[in-house]
Amino acid sequence: MKFFLDTANVEEIREYQELGIVDGVTTNPTLLAKEKHRGDFRDVVKEICSIVDGPVNAEVIGESHGQMFEEGMKLARLHENIVVKIPMTVEGMKTVHALHREGIHTNVTLIFTANQALIAAKAGARYVSPFIGRLDDISHFGVELIRDIVTIYGNYGIETECLAASLRSPTHVVDCATAGAHIATMPFAVLEKMFRHPLTDKGIAQFLKDWETTGAKI
Ligand code: G3P
Repeated sequence: MKFFLDTANVEEIREYQELGIVDGVTTNPTLLAKEKHRGDFRDVVKEICSIVDGPVNAEVIGESHGQMFEEGMKLARLHENIVVKIPMTVEGMKTVHALHREGIHTNVTLIFTANQALIAAKAGARYVSPFIGRLDDISHFGVELIRDIVTIYGNYGIETECLAASLRSPTHVVDCATAGAHIATMPFAVLEKMFRHPLTDKGIAQFLKDWETTGAKI
């Protein structure tokens, strides 16, 4: 499973880049708005592209096909790794299809049903983003949607990748991996928590304490 960071914070992205475990980045208007002190959002997106060697997702904000297509073309010109995020609407799927014909990768966002994921794939989306946490918020089991999408795509040899989004905890990541998500995009705080276990910390402390008693050096 690929790991994407769900953030527009350049420092966070830089921090994990050297570990070689971050395969891409997703942003959305909300995440970019948090970084507004950095100036033009296009500069933020370009800077992210200069750090990450993988897909960098940037979202359109227009609502008509015409607006979304124009914005999508502009975003795609920023860098060759840009993936254009398009919301799951009829107009959006027209844009996905048109951008697909231009050879531009798209990610259909705000997916909440398997049918939406099927439509997005048929329109030519490279990725779909089911929002797991937001389904859990309204008492649905978000991970079941991941399982359904992965099964359906597998049944028909569909190459669109299932990018599990709106992940809120380390257990969400395990659930999505178990369900077969191709990609998990997660906030920095979730990735950070995935490293940790109290028994790891306890074990390290014990090893160091015991080593000191030897007086030896490596
Ligand atoms: O990847 C989508 C994500 O940014 C939305 O997360 O926590 O607002 O549902 P959340």
